[in-house]
Parts: sequence; C-alpha cells; structure tokens
Amino acid sequence: MFKDKRIYFAPSLLSADFTNVQNAVRIMEKASAEFIHLDVMDGLFVPNITFGHKMVKDISGITNLALDVHLMVENPEKHIANFASSGAEYITFHLEAAIHSHRIIEQIKGLGCKAGISIVPGTPVSSLSELLPIVDLVLVMSVNPGFGGQSFIPGALEKIKFLDSIRRKNGYNYLISIDGGVNRNNSGKIRNNGADILVSGSSFFNSSDPYAEANFIRGNKEV
Ligand code: DX5
Ligand code: ZN
Repeated sequence: MFKDKRIYFAPSLLSADFTNVQNAVRIMEKASAEFIHLDVMDGLFVPNITFGHKMVKDISGITNLALDVHLMVENPEKHIANFASSGAEYITFHLEAAIHSHRIIEQIKGLGCKAGISIVPGTPVSSLSELLPIVDLVLVMSVNPGFGGQSFIPGALEKIKFLDSIRRKNGYNYLISIDGGVNRNNSGKIRNNGADILVSGSSFFNSSDPYAEANFIRGNKEV
C-alpha cells in the first residue's frame, strides 16, 4: 500500500496575509495543494491566538481543497463539534492536551471527520502506541508549536521513520504528517523517512516563488 505512496502538500494559512485570506486560498490551489492546514491556537496550550471555527467554515465555502484542522488548544473535546460542522475533513488534536484521547478520536469519527493525533517535540512517539490502530493521521511536530518560521528539530525524522515502520508491520492506515520548519532543504529526508503530508507555512508563503517552493517540497524538483 505504501510502496509508491504519494506525497500530499499542506500549506499552512498561519503564514498568509490574514487581510486577504481568499487570495491565500487561491495561491494554495494554484500550487496544487491537497490540503489547507489550519492552525487553531487558544493562547493557553500555546502562547499564541489565531482563529476559530468561523474561519474554517468561511474557507470551506470558497474552496474544494480538504481542510486539515490542527487544534493547539486545551480541552479539545469542547471544540470538536464546531469544527466538524464547519467543513473540516481532518481534525487533529494534541495528545498533551487531552486526558481521554481515545474518546476524542471516537468523537471526531462519530461526527464524520477523520481523526488526527499530534505530539510536540518533547513527547516520545511511543506514547501513541494505544492510538495508532484507530487514528487516521499522526501529526509529528518538528517545532515547538505556537509560531511559524521556526527551525526544524531533527529528532522528528526518527519519529516519522518509526511511525512508517510500525504501520507497515501492523497494517495501520494513518497518514504521517510533519509540521514545522519544513522547506526545500529538508523535505527530501522527510519524504524518505516515510512522511505523507508535508505542512509548510513560512517557506511557502514567504517565498518569492511559492509554486516552485511547493514543487521542491513535494520532490517534483530536486534542490
Ligand atoms: C506551528 C504550526 C505550524 C506552522 C508551520 O505551531 O502548527 O503549522 O504554521 O509554520 P512553518 O512552516 O513556518 O514552520
Ligand atoms: Zn500546524
């Protein structure tokens, strides 16, 4: 199943100009993105505040791209229903923000969305073992969450490799997503280690040629 697997590109809205979200969506579509990555921050789980479910709903009204919601919030279970009814395809929450993560995964799926779980750089990938059979996506953070434009933490590469090997061994079906500091120079290693979805905020939106950047990140062009 994963032999000739495809790579999905998921630009993060976080690095776009919030005064012109519609234009940002068009840039992502033109770059042939499969997902729009939407970083929801509450100022509690992370030291930054972004936007809520209305942004997701409004974006779902202007694009057919799949919406990949990354909840960096405390008590994620309180917000799942709102995001599910706003057009999210994937809803990902943090293991570190939840006590009953298994229940929250069932909650997300019960509302018709795909369920993702994420871990910060300081959390070992082994802590996900009970959840891997039931999740649709594992989001490995390669920066400490809260801000765009940070440097990639290399320890994430081993986590991706482990997640890829364990899914092959056990026939699990989750996608592996990597988020934080992804750019044209590290995307080759990230892809080779088994990631499926590459999230990119600043390297994409701050590039003078975001379309070329997207091609480098996907591996359509070699650096
Ligand atoms: C960080 C967010 C990321 C961020 C990535 O907390 O989860 O999605 O937008 O931005 P870059 O690619 O600039 O690291
Ligand atoms: Zn994110």
